Amino acid sequence: MEKNPSEEKSFHMTPEEFRQHGHAVIDWIADYQSRVETFPVLSRVKPGEIRASLPASPPAHGEPFDSLLKDVEDLILPGVTHWQSPNFFAYFPCNASGPGILGDLLSSGLGVQGMLWSTSPACTELETHVMDWLVNMLGLPQKFLSSSTGGGVIQDTASSAALCALLAARERATNYTSNKKGCEGKLVAYCSTQTHSSLEKAAMIAGIGTDNLRLIEVDENFAMRPEALARQIDADQRAGLTPCFVCATIGTTSSNAMDPLTAIGEICRQHGLWMHVDAAMSGTAMLCPEFRPLQNGVEFADSYNFNPHKWMFTNFDCNCFWVADRKALIQTLSILPEYLRNQATESGAVIDYRDWHIQLGRRFRSLKLWFVIRHYGVEGLQHHIREHVRLAQQFSQWVKEDDGFELAAPVPLNLVCFRHKAGDAANQAIMERLNRSGDLFLTHTKLNGKVTLRLCVGQTHTQAKHVEHAWQKICEETEAAHLA
Ligand SMILES: Cc1ncc(COP(=O)(O)O)c(C=O)c1O
Repeated sequence: MEKNPSEEKSFHMTPEEFRQHGHAVIDWIADYQSRVETFPVLSRVKPGEIRASLPASPPAHGEPFDSLLKDVEDLILPGVTHWQSPNFFAYFPCNASGPGILGDLLSSGLGVQGMLWSTSPACTELETHVMDWLVNMLGLPQKFLSSSTGGGVIQDTASSAALCALLAARERATNYTSNKKGCEGKLVAYCSTQTHSSLEKAAMIAGIGTDNLRLIEVDENFAMRPEALARQIDADQRAGLTPCFVCATIGTTSSNAMDPLTAIGEICRQHGLWMHVDAAMSGTAMLCPEFRPLQNGVEFADSYNFNPHKWMFTNFDCNCFWVADRKALIQTLSILPEYLRNQATESGAVIDYRDWHIQLGRRFRSLKLWFVIRHYGVEGLQHHIREHVRLAQQFSQWVKEDDGFELAAPVPLNLVCFRHKAGDAANQAIMERLNRSGDLFLTHTKLNGKVTLRLCVGQTHTQAKHVEHAWQKICEETEAAHLA
């Protein structure tokens, strides 16, 4: 007898199964959040250990969902470095929150691909709206508003934002011909010796070439020297080159240095250069009006970006990127093949975000950002940012008061760069002991050629007791290393 096709096994998860397993996953995440402090912050597995624990070939037949979740617990968790631990002080935060996770889950549930306004109008319009909200929440120039000449778009990362900014600068400087004809090796871009490496990558990809990316020297606070920038631009112009782009940073990765935006902006304006401001982590601090003097001069910016996925409780990935002149960006990145033509686009009345970044397809990322902003409110976000800054300032005070340690850079916000006076080997030893202990995780940089420890406060659940414990542990390990 022939089988009725409707009785065939579908292999899919039914809505009822989804509901049941979904509850189990949410329970697992909630439990993870409650017990995250019980794990060593830095994963202890050796290279290859996780793969060795996995079956060599994929299953021929589907497995019960319970066994998937069990393997996450038994096989995957040991190989996780716990970025969501309140004792995570390394690199920069990548904090997450309940509303962010749930917003992201909804985005997956809707499964929208918002490359064009018409492929899901809500995906585009919510994004535009939230990006406009953020302009005012962060005290950014009104020209970044979608109702003005500019507008904002969510990118995956600050690296992509920098690349888009550099591409638009390149096009503007060549009267929109380099997309077609390529670069002739004459365009020059500028950043400081402390700028994030994503700018070097952007120069590689954009065809500027790293030989044409000038790393401008910094002052004793690791901020770009505007007079050195002006000198270099003059020299390049005299050599027949075409300066086109400057990246200034609000909060460098190594030491949280603040480049002087006003002085840099005036130079950019004088020479017609595109000024991009990278505020990847520290941009979040601008939610609090008292920190905004750190971005004085931002009105000169042609583009600006920050990562809510670093410090604003919005789980990775989520980068907010604004331009003052959206036409320059769109003209740089727009291509309209026949199969994407549609009435809404032709009408000119809508935003098609595919023209605002590298890739075509895009997730509904604004949902998680919207959830975070609505859950915390401006007040809740400000509360946590102020607290993180307060804790970092307190930590820096303990460093200052200790004879063995010294601060290695100013502490404008939530990152403390410090070192033991006994030198590089001692600092390396202290850091390794701390990270091996599993109690906390911090990382290092080099400032003025010296190994420097970095403690960055920004995890969602980091409280005073965690920072106090970190300092206590640092003192203990210093003593154990016979350095006290
Ligand atoms: C100042 C700065 N810019 C850019 C980046 C790169 O961020 P993303 O991972 O979003 O590309 C970072 C983070 O490391 C950063 O600190």
